[in-house]
Parts: sequence; C-alpha cells; structure tokens
Amino acid sequence: MRSPAPQSPGADPTGAEPATRQQASTGPTLPRRTGRLVLRPFRHGDETDVLAYRGRADVVRYMLTDPMPADIAEAFVQERLGTTRIAQDHDRIVLAVEYDGRVIGDVLLMAGELASRQAEIGWVLNPDFHGQGLATEAARELLAVAFGDLDMHRVWAQLDPRNVASARLCERLGMRKEAHFRQDLWFKGEWSDTAVYALLADDWHANRPLSARPGT
Ligand SMILES: CC(C)(COP(=O)(O)OP(=O)(O)OC[C@H]1O[C@@H](n2cnc3c(N)ncnc32)[C@H](O)[C@@H]1OP(=O)(O)O)[C@@H](O)C(=O)NCCC(=O)NCCS
Repeated sequence: MRSPAPQSPGADPTGAEPATRQQASTGPTLPRRTGRLVLRPFRHGDETDVLAYRGRADVVRYMLTDPMPADIAEAFVQERLGTTRIAQDHDRIVLAVEYDGRVIGDVLLMAGELASRQAEIGWVLNPDFHGQGLATEAARELLAVAFGDLDMHRVWAQLDPRNVASARLCERLGMRKEAHFRQDLWFKGEWSDTAVYALLADDWHANRPLSARPGT
C-alpha cells in the first residue's frame, strides 16, 4: 500500500505451475465474518467512518496518500463499491473492516499479473482500535481469501521500515522479511527505505489450524 509494485515477475507462459493448481475463483463470498469483525464491500454511508481514520495525518504517515479531505470521502467510497473481485491483471479487492457496526479500517488485496498468482496485501485501521489484534484478525481473513479462495501462490507487503506497527503485523501473520531496499523511494519530502515481507501458499497451508483444513 506504499509504492508502485517492484514485485511480481511475470510467469513463464510455457511452464505449467502458475495457473494449474486448481481452478480458482475470482472473488470471495462476501461478507467475511471473523470472531469480531465483518469484512464487507464498501457502501454509501461509510464516508464519515472512513474520514475518521483516513483523514488523520498520523494514520497516513507511511502511506502514499495525504490525509483525506472531507470532500474526497464520497469519491473514495464510490470508487470502492465494486472492488470485490480479482478477474484481470492488477485488479484489487478492497474491503471495509466493520466492528460493532462501524467501519474502523480497510484492507486491500491487489493482484499483479494474474498468471503469476501473486498479490500485495495492505491495511489501515483507525487508531482508536489499535492494540487489540483487530488488524491481525482482518489481515488473517484476507490471507484466507488470497490463498483459500483465489489460490494465490504468494502474498507480499511493502512498507517503510519505520512503520514498526505494520512490520510487526507482517510478522504476526507469519510473513517473512525478504528485502530491505535502501532509500529507494522519494516519499513525503525525503528518501526512505522499503521493506518487503511475503508469505507463500505452502507456508500458509502448513500453518493453518488443523480444524480449518479440508477433511478435518
Ligand atoms: C498497521 C496497523 C494496522 C497495525 O495496527 P495494530 O493495532 O498495531 O495491529 P493489531 O490490530 O493487529 O493489534 C496488534 C497489537 O495488539 C496486541 N493484541 C491484543 N490482543 C491481540 C489479539 N487478540 N491478537 C493479536 N494481537 C493482539 C498485540 O500484542 C499488538 O500489540 P504490540 O504491537 O504492542 O505487540 C496500524 O498501525 C495502522 O493502521 N497504521 C496506519 C496505516 C498504515 O501505516 N498502514 C500500512 C501501510 S504499509
């Protein structure tokens, strides 16, 4: 959720692996319910909740965007009303994270080239709800969408290494730190570094609770 993707090498069109594991669907069944959250498509009426977090300078400090002005919220929601499927290269799924009837954040899954079965994951949460594991819960569900529903091979995240909360979230999800690029991005008035974290499907399947695996 930070810079143009440096990732996702295209799949070898002559090889068999990228698209053959199974016929993946292009979109998850929605909404997704977790223990405390509902992940659902955005809808009209979410604008005030979105502004409450995306309008804050501290929230977007390490994101590519600036604090959202109030008059942009409607367009933000409008653009995301139908972002629920990955059917073409670079499609994205963006879902509102609802807690107790309120949108407290949003999560993103953005595909590269479909043939490579890789996607970038991203998250943002209202600070009033930090520190309770809610972002972890939402992101875990999105990984289930990516690996379970969409049959992705690899999910990756990129972040400013100074964004410690985001790095810790990657680690809680079992993502491995794969790269640290030094001063690769001119970002908000300074050169900044980029860390890349990733998780492979095999690792996700191996570490899922037994109760969540088919046939158990
Ligand atoms: C990144 C971000 C979503 C992380 O939020 P967060 O509140 O730290 O993450 P979680 O909701 O998963 O909560 C985890 C914290 O709650 C604690 N916690 C409490 N109950 C928990 C539970 N049941 N499960 C997991 N963690 C729990 C954890 O110990 C952890 O605290 P710690 O980091 O002090 O160890 C948040 O900082 C954010 O929105 N930042 C701004 C947007 C941004 O930068 N996005 C990323 C751009 S790359």
